[in-house]
Amino acid sequence: MIEFKDAGVTAPDTGVTILKPTSLTLTERRISVIGANGGGKSTLVRMINGLIPATTGSVEVDGLDVARKGPQVRRKVGFLFTDPSAQLIMPTGVEDVMLSLRRTIKNKDERTRAALDALDEMGLGDRADVAVGSLSGGQRQLLALAGVLAVTPSILVADEPTTLLDLRWRAHVGALLRSLPVQLIEVTHDLDSAARAERTIVIDDGSVAFDGDPTEAVRFYRDLMFGRTTRTPSP
Ligand SMILES: Nc1ncnc2c1ncn2[C@@H]1O[C@H](COP(=O)(O)OP(=O)(O)OP(=O)(O)O)[C@@H](O)[C@H]1O
Ligand SMILES: [Mg+2]
Repeated sequence: MIEFKDAGVTAPDTGVTILKPTSLTLTERRISVIGANGGGKSTLVRMINGLIPATTGSVEVDGLDVARKGPQVRRKVGFLFTDPSAQLIMPTGVEDVMLSLRRTIKNKDERTRAALDALDEMGLGDRADVAVGSLSGGQRQLLALAGVLAVTPSILVADEPTTLLDLRWRAHVGALLRSLPVQLIEVTHDLDSAARAERTIVIDDGSVAFDGDPTEAVRFYRDLMFGRTTRTPSP
């Protein structure tokens, strides 16, 4: 369970409020987060594993305060970025997944086997030794996912994980994400994908503008963008 308790973010350098104090209890297994560019979606989800610290209030994961128990929280929360290059650091896929496994599997042969199994599960079994830079965007996103899942998180936060992918890879990675045995919090501009969640949060201008049924949330967001609600878009 993820809990935002009046959690807000003010930029330390500019003093600008990026996320107003927000309270949310996230228990559903599939949650989508949608909203306009610059609204604060990435900020909100990055607070779940402490990538961005709350400057007011607090965020808790399974009762652990993210600010005080960061390492424990990060073992529970995997994070998938839009651009997998941001999290792939080793030259080849197998080495990258092995790096993720270094704490949990000390024996190198076992670690290699586990990494190869993880790649197999993502359909990358025959790409294990290929240079990461030579993989396609979709394959790189799957590789990043293999690395994140290798440490068996119970929560997966994905910030626009399919945005850079073509239609085929988008469908593949999207379906895979939804099938995982984790609580998934997905930021997306793909409203069809957003509507497949159990709960959708619309973030606008640094606060929660709508929270509830996905289909209604998508309708609310469309109305918000095309001026049929009282809220006006931020500049
Ligand atoms: N130091 C800062 N000073 C002022 N504003 C900032 C600072 N850092 C971030 N912001 C602003 O905070 C807002 C929230 O950004 P965030 O990345 O969370 O938006 P987002 O909803 O993920 O947008 P997108 O859909 O484009 O990814 C943006 O308008 C950004 O410009
Ligand atoms: Mg963002």
